[in-house]
Amino acid sequence: MNPNDVNAQPTDSIETTDFDTLVDKAISRRSLLKGAMATGIVGFFTLSPMAKAVADTMASSKLIGFEGIPASTEDAIKLPQGYRHTVLMAWGDPVLPGAPAFDHSGKQTAKDQAMQFGDNTDGMTLFHLKDEAGNIIPDRAVLAVNNEYTNNKIVISADETGSAEDVAKLQAAHGVTIVELKRDSNHQWHYVKDSKMNRRLHANSEFEITGPAAGHDLLKTMADKTGTKALGTINNCANGQTPWETYLTCEENFHNYFGASDAEKLPAELAEFYGAKADESKNKWWKYDDRFDLAKNPNEANRFGWVVEIDPFDPTSTPKKRTALGRIKHENAEVVVNGDGHIVVYMGDDERGEHIYRFVSKNKYQPNNPSANRDLLDEGTLYVAKFNGELGEHDGKGEWIALVHGQNGLTKENGFADQAYILVNTRKAAKHVKATTMDRPEWITHNPSTGQVFCTLTNNKHRGNKENQPLNAANPRQSNHYGQIIRWSAAGNDHTADTFVWDLFLLAGNPTVHPDTLYAGSKNITADNMFNSPDGIGFDKGGRLWVLTDGDMSNEGDFAGQGNNQMLCADPNTAEIRRFLVGPVGCEVTGLTFADDNRAMFVGIQHPTKGFPDYLDGGKPRSSILVITREDGGVIGA
Ligand code: FEO
Ligand code: CA
Ligand code: CA
Repeated sequence: MNPNDVNAQPTDSIETTDFDTLVDKAISRRSLLKGAMATGIVGFFTLSPMAKAVADTMASSKLIGFEGIPASTEDAIKLPQGYRHTVLMAWGDPVLPGAPAFDHSGKQTAKDQAMQFGDNTDGMTLFHLKDEAGNIIPDRAVLAVNNEYTNNKIVISADETGSAEDVAKLQAAHGVTIVELKRDSNHQWHYVKDSKMNRRLHANSEFEITGPAAGHDLLKTMADKTGTKALGTINNCANGQTPWETYLTCEENFHNYFGASDAEKLPAELAEFYGAKADESKNKWWKYDDRFDLAKNPNEANRFGWVVEIDPFDPTSTPKKRTALGRIKHENAEVVVNGDGHIVVYMGDDERGEHIYRFVSKNKYQPNNPSANRDLLDEGTLYVAKFNGELGEHDGKGEWIALVHGQNGLTKENGFADQAYILVNTRKAAKHVKATTMDRPEWITHNPSTGQVFCTLTNNKHRGNKENQPLNAANPRQSNHYGQIIRWSAAGNDHTADTFVWDLFLLAGNPTVHPDTLYAGSKNITADNMFNSPDGIGFDKGGRLWVLTDGDMSNEGDFAGQGNNQMLCADPNTAEIRRFLVGPVGCEVTGLTFADDNRAMFVGIQHPTKGFPDYLDGGKPRSSILVITREDGGVIGA
């Protein structure tokens, strides 16, 4: 969560309405059975995976081999018996050759920070090195990891920036870090300080803008008359990886870094659709760096909000901002190789009432011709999702609407000048075609063995009765503190098809506080595994579904008994859910990747607030990456 995020609002109480009683039936077995038939997702005894789960939810999962752990409010990492963790890297640790060691006094300069691990670890991917024959080297890898935003109080010892040096330091703490990893003879992973493969990309690194909007007038600035050379990547939330082994980093709340010295000059579309304000964010980069002053550089913000592709193996390469994938507050980018070779990328836009998107490449992936894949993400079609269905039922059909100039009303007469305009103003185009408004789409993942796609809808605490965020079949709770996970199957398992069927894999909730309402959650949510605000989500190679939370950790009221943010493991076949990890006080758990053998899991602990990870007197809590292994060296989760 970003404290400056417009979504970060104070908690309000849950109101149960007549409508809630009406729709409560939707998690009944009858509805789920109907859903199974409608979706055609048929498992044993003709029940859908979820319907079967509700029939015998507590049947022991064959996929999950650990005992679920209790909720915790301790300032500690909690794991099941037989698991252990080490800290791989924490904010401020040295990365580039010559970088100084972390200094708990917090006195490191902007220059130091640009050589050290950035703040607020988020999405990450481990890429194994390969030998000359192309075989994976099991104990060597590079890790690409996002540094989403900054804990200003910790990094500059003040909430609000007050000097150019403050801004420079915060800019250097953003972006992406790439480090070499090695596994030692005790099977423990470490990062390699000073490796030539290590790299820091931050708010002043060089990027190329590519794809259909590159070079358009909307991307040109005083400093870059070509509209193709941008400086910086910011608010890098979650991630993706391509089969041609590049890293995708996704720019989320970019608006928070901009302001305007003359409020009259705030670009109207940026304000209306992306929430930019003249002077609200505490970052105030615009006060000390003209590039972020929209009165002086109105197009600079158009150069953020993209998916960026990075070659993690070549520290000299220039990363590319792929405009064909649209400009939104990107969460992650889930890449699927479709059966026919087209590349499909699923993406969520994390804000209340925003949407879920899909990109389909024009050309096909060629596994044996790497140069043909290099720019596959530059040409293709962007779509936005409509989830149809009856309010009260938790399943339905869906369709993808193309965001293509001249189609679906996206014409000059309606204010859409050309395709580049649509890509820069993706949210405006999605609203125009009446895409379904969702409860904050966060990460998306797909099950490689079934093709089903899962998306976390983290929460929507302030829907109100706004016309632009109506209740709908996929987002059925008025005051949705807990969130849900939606999933869909492409028609014919063809991810380029225009239609799909969907259902809700789970509704998070609290059955101990709201036993008789929709806010108890779906039947796979119990007093032993309950949580709120699912955010990160991903499958491991064994087919286990991992869910990471970024929610309310007050452990009171609606959230009583849920404890700190956590990580859960779900069996997608039975929908059984067990709690695997609980994080320390104040953190969200975000970022997930595995070593190829699934015997090491890397997990991010973002913005802890107490003593983690150093527990030094007077020391600073630090965002950190954990490596989790089993004491017996076994597969994680099995
Ligand atoms: Fe960066 Fe939507 O979380
Ligand atoms: Ca979140
Ligand atoms: Ca997130």
